Amino acid sequence: MSKYVIANWKMNGASASITDHISRLAKRLGSKAIANKLSVIICAPHVYLSALKTLTKDLPISIGGQDCHSHAKGAFTGETSAEMLADVGCRYVLIGHSERRKYNGEDESVLQEKVIMAQHAGLTPILCIGESAIEREQKATLEVLRRQLSILKETQGNVLISYEPDWAIGTGITPDLEDVQIVCHSIADEYQRLTDKNACVIYGGSVNAENASGFIQSKDIDGILVGGASLAPESFGQIIEISAQLS
Ligand code: PGA
Repeated sequence: MSKYVIANWKMNGASASITDHISRLAKRLGSKAIANKLSVIICAPHVYLSALKTLTKDLPISIGGQDCHSHAKGAFTGETSAEMLADVGCRYVLIGHSERRKYNGEDESVLQEKVIMAQHAGLTPILCIGESAIEREQKATLEVLRRQLSILKETQGNVLISYEPDWAIGTGITPDLEDVQIVCHSIADEYQRLTDKNACVIYGGSVNAENASGFIQSKDIDGILVGGASLAPESFGQIIEISAQLS
């Protein structure tokens, strides 16, 4: 299975900067064969997804949304459905990112509906799970992750699970590689117990060009989700190159 390198641009970018980003990324990657080695995905702000789809049409890059609504359609002003994301060319969608849990109060029941909607629309949801600093101090990490994973029991279809301790997001602090490996392994075990299927578990939280290689080389970690370091084509390109070399 090829490893995943996923960019989460969050609420960043504009038409001109996105065009520039993709053209510099394309030049940097040139003809280097990454397509067989990696699955590269960019999760962009929804208003730019159509443009991004066009910009990446000749590149081995898939696109994804950053959230979808828990209903298929209707009177939900300002929202985007999973089907709409699929319609503009997305293959993936982030669900339950810690910023959405924190700022939008998304709980397990709404996240389960979103996962089902995404799968129904033919998208692969990237379910983000992770503990807070306090939960980690209380040694409650596995209990929290089990609760967050429990929503997958009733769902069918593909899912990627991204382990992102929320204290590692945007802080420059990452857990020890060994800890990440142990947790990712436990996530895979729990997913197997819940669904009888093999999990695909990636890591996110302050990944950059310096630390990406450790995560990518681990047999327990199926890829990385990159926030801040995915915003510049140089650093994201470097992360892709390193990941491709090591895969
Ligand atoms: P970061 O963000 O790489 O900037 O820590 C990761 C994420 O939020 O998914």
